[in-house]
Amino acid sequence: MTIGSDRLQRRMARGAAFLGSEVAILGGAMSWVSERNLVSAISNAGGFGVIACGAMTPALLDAEIAATQAMTDKPFGVNLITMHPDLVELIAVCTRHKVGHVVLAGGLPPKGSLEAIKAGGAKVICFAPTLALAKKLIRSGVDALVIEGMEAGGHIGPVSTSVLAQEMLPEIAELVPVFVAGGIGRGEAIAGYLDMGAAGVQLGTRFVCGTESIAHANFKKAFIRASARDAIASVQLDARLPVIPVRALKNAAGELFSAKQREVAGHLDEGRVAMGEAQLQIEHYWAGALRRAVVDGDVEHGSVMAGQSVGMVTKEEPVADIIAELMAQAAAALEARAA
Ligand SMILES: Cc1cc2nc3c(=O)[nH]c(=O)nc-3n(C[C@H](O)[C@H](O)[C@H](O)COP(=O)(O)O)c2cc1C
Repeated sequence: MTIGSDRLQRRMARGAAFLGSEVAILGGAMSWVSERNLVSAISNAGGFGVIACGAMTPALLDAEIAATQAMTDKPFGVNLITMHPDLVELIAVCTRHKVGHVVLAGGLPPKGSLEAIKAGGAKVICFAPTLALAKKLIRSGVDALVIEGMEAGGHIGPVSTSVLAQEMLPEIAELVPVFVAGGIGRGEAIAGYLDMGAAGVQLGTRFVCGTESIAHANFKKAFIRASARDAIASVQLDARLPVIPVRALKNAAGELFSAKQREVAGHLDEGRVAMGEAQLQIEHYWAGALRRAVVDGDVEHGSVMAGQSVGMVTKEEPVADIIAELMAQAAAALEARAA
């Protein structure tokens, strides 16, 4: 073992022990992408795969967990969205399958959900958008946190990963394991966040073009072609019509979304539509759009969620190669620290 890989192993030890994996790299849950194939590939390669439950019913999640367990004997997690109407039942499904880690995404966990997950024997990982909320989540008993910057693909907050890491790691990294996400494309960045106190990292965008990922060939092609500046956040055009920012590749759907916002705002001005109905039209615009891109391959009219690290995705390759490359880069960076 080189000095660099020894240093890397020591810096990842806490995160890896927490996850029960070989390396402290989580494959961030990606709706429609993070299913049995990609999740088991990440876990089999020594990382920690996470199933994206998204809008799955409890029966579908049940089948997906069982299928994943059939493809790997390594640990993996399940990502549940807090707004899901069947959250209680989905937690019960995870408990029945003895899933070791549940990641709660999409806002603060509703009352009783942390307790239900922990009572079932699983560890709870939450997203912490601010330092104050991180401390509150730790007080309420979460086992680990993810801090995710606006460079990430999918739904994003307003602050960059580098600022979140500086603000939050010195205050909370000793209390619970913290995994840094958003914009990580190479191992040097992983080494940097580990040095700052992170227990590990979470990557999404880099895994989309894994050979094992079932994302449509058009979706993967769009990733391979894109550069960082193509992965843009959706913009709210009217104060009355809230838009939750999502980072995705520029395409026709994004332009049509701007047109839709202007049209609905115009209807509001003219009193042709009630506020509630107008807001719903905006909220529902993207319904089914990620599936359309990932599963159907319509990368012009679907949502091609991608982070800024998409520029570092240059080919389709086995997940094990992606993880090995990240680890080698991180180890080399840590080796160079001594010089
Ligand atoms: C296509 C896509 C779909 C995603 N879907 C979800 C999701 O369903 N739930 C979730 O918590 N995060 C989702 N994310 C965020 C990832 O889990 C991960 O945190 C993020 O990709 C990390 O940043 P990176 O893209 O810069 O690596 C998604 C990201 C992408 C690119």
